[in-house]
Amino acid sequence: MKILGVSSGTKDGNNDAMCREALMGAQENGAEIEFVRLLDLDIKHCTGCISCVMSLMKGKGNKCALKDDFDWLLDKILEADGVLFSTPVFEKGAAGIFRTITDRFGPRMDRLHNIVSTEIAEKNNGKIPDPRILKDKVVSYVGIGGSDWTNRIQCDHGLLAMTMMWKVIDNEVFPWSKGIIMEDEKVARAHEIGVNLAKAARDIESAEYKGDPGICPHCHSRNFYLNNNASEAICCLCGIKGEIKNTDGKISFVFPEEQLEHAHDTISGKKIHMDDIKKNEDALMASRKSQEYKARVEKYRNFINASKPETNKMS
Ligand SMILES: Cc1cc2nc3c(=O)[nH]c(=O)nc-3n(C[C@H](O)[C@H](O)[C@H](O)COP(=O)(O)O)c2cc1C
Repeated sequence: MKILGVSSGTKDGNNDAMCREALMGAQENGAEIEFVRLLDLDIKHCTGCISCVMSLMKGKGNKCALKDDFDWLLDKILEADGVLFSTPVFEKGAAGIFRTITDRFGPRMDRLHNIVSTEIAEKNNGKIPDPRILKDKVVSYVGIGGSDWTNRIQCDHGLLAMTMMWKVIDNEVFPWSKGIIMEDEKVARAHEIGVNLAKAARDIESAEYKGDPGICPHCHSRNFYLNNNASEAICCLCGIKGEIKNTDGKISFVFPEEQLEHAHDTISGKKIHMDDIKKNEDALMASRKSQEYKARVEKYRNFINASKPETNKMS
């Protein structure tokens, strides 16, 4: 059983150390381990070209237009039974490099997209996406901040698991942790996270979440979007709509049972989203053919060019 540790931190910094600490715990529990530092890799930002979804939906495989180290990383992730991400908190959330990885997984690695693409490819003798994408996997997260400005990282971390429907085992945040390697309790917790992950990876089917229960009973998130109308609250991670209740000082998030069908980490929720997107894309395609649409694009293009340094050769 393989556990991959992925650090988004500086070389030999807090995240490298805690990722390695968790990997020690995993190794002690029988895991074959490997460690990767994202900042050692050439990882480009997703440009939004959507060629990945286009090729998936045509049954032509799971391709990305960008040429960099992402597919090397992806191969390591797909080979692992469990992945441990350790990420510095930047501006309250996950550091940008982790967000870029989340975007690069985005529609391309979405479980439903790959299920549908596999069906299309099988029917049309096309290119079947890598079957490892549909394999169950466990994942844990460690977020390390230097202060108490840390309350978006659990949500940023959780999102990456939702794309592939990986099972989250721990989603831990360490605030005020600039000197974490000298704090034995936190080091022991990072070790335990590695142990939990290795144990979960041995039996993924019965693996269970072991972290902070949070507020959302479905995904354990503590982040909510509050609408002005009545008391509606939307879980920022799984997208379930419900209400925040305060019962004798105890906060809870309650929602009608049918909301579970909409959760972004379920096949039914992904299906609703996929159908919505398709409707919108079809409408846009039709609109793009009109003279009026073309004229509006021209109007903006002709108004002002984007400035860039003279040395910049990017088109
Ligand atoms: C650009 C930048 C933004 C940061 N923003 C936050 C923040 O919002 N909240 C926080 O708790 N720590 C913040 N920090 C501190 C880092 O999260 C902390 O130093 C982390 O442990 C560094 O990880 P590393 O040693 O693995 O590189 C920030 C650091 C940098 C460089």
